[in-house]
Amino acid sequence: MGLKPDHLVAVYPGSFDPITYGHLDLIARASGFVDKLIAGVLRNESKQPLFSVEERVEMLGEVVREYPNVEVDSFDGLLVEFAAARRASLIIRGIRAISDYEYELQMALMNRRLRPNIETVFMMASEAHSFISARLVKEVAKLGGNISGLVPPGVEARLKERLLEKQPVKA
Ligand code: PNS
Repeated sequence: MGLKPDHLVAVYPGSFDPITYGHLDLIARASGFVDKLIAGVLRNESKQPLFSVEERVEMLGEVVREYPNVEVDSFDGLLVEFAAARRASLIIRGIRAISDYEYELQMALMNRRLRPNIETVFMMASEAHSFISARLVKEVAKLGGNISGLVPPGVEARLKERLLEKQPVKA
């Protein structure tokens, strides 16, 4: 790696559909060692998200308000091009279990091939959050389980509202 830039900018990309306390824990810790952290929400309709990009950006914005060096943005196309356009030299990704590693390694190596100057930094999720995934949170919420403590209260309220709207009408 070259000389450390004076102003260290990192991108923390993801689907954030919706943001969980696992994401937030990573944002809190990563924002402590970079000058600027940009949470980048992927615009990808093929993933059939529960929340629109605008809603996801809004939810993230609400919960990162307490971190002055954290910004929220959205992107489409290649992650490394987004990072380069935002002058970021780091991509932050969280790893929960060894099962995350294989996919993350592939992405990190591909991203390095595309843009060798952008470094991927893996951070371990804290034990308290290592089982949380947005997918499981949505599934539990859909089935009426308790999701408090897994997502911020505002997100929990929006999830319940969205899932109620999506309930199929009973015949
Ligand atoms: O929260 P997710 O769904 O695990 O995030 C995945 C994400 C957004 C990091 C990944 O899908 C991505 O980077 N997409 C952008 C397209 C891209 O750059 N693809 C090549 C990656 S090697």
